[in-house]
Amino acid sequence: MNSLILVLLSASLVAATNFDFSGAVKCESKGRWCFTVRGIEVDLISDDELVAYDKCQDGDKTVKFSMLGVADDDGLLDSTFEIALQVTHNCSSSTEKSVTSEYYNVPVKEVAFAMSKNFDLNANIVVVP
Ligand SMILES: *[C@@H]1O[C@H](CO)[C@@H](O)[C@H](O)[C@H]1NC(C)=O
Repeated sequence: MNSLILVLLSASLVAATNFDFSGAVKCESKGRWCFTVRGIEVDLISDDELVAYDKCQDGDKTVKFSMLGVADDDGLLDSTFEIALQVTHNCSSSTEKSVTSEYYNVPVKEVAFAMSKNFDLNANIVVVP
């Protein structure tokens, strides 16, 4: 292996991207409901949870969230992170439901990336502004 490859290799191994996830979840409910919102990264091997936030509420509420996650460039095969927000909840349902936003392709060389999504949990959808 020549030294140029070694330099590129070690540079890619230390690279990390900071993710700033924010948004809100809305639920109209007569009773108690709980949710977990996750910043996730999908790659060839597995789905990784970068960061998560959970909370329970009573009645009609809109809950804002804001959280930071870091992804390391672990694979040499991939030049992008595929990033999404996923909410699992039991708003207006006794069984757990899940809704996932669209995925964003974020180049691993990016230092920071911010995304914001609002979720309507009764309809189990991402609200498009
Ligand atoms: C949602 O889960 C919480 C915690 O387990 C529970 O207290 C609540 O009653 C559940 N709500 C619904 C609508 O099932």
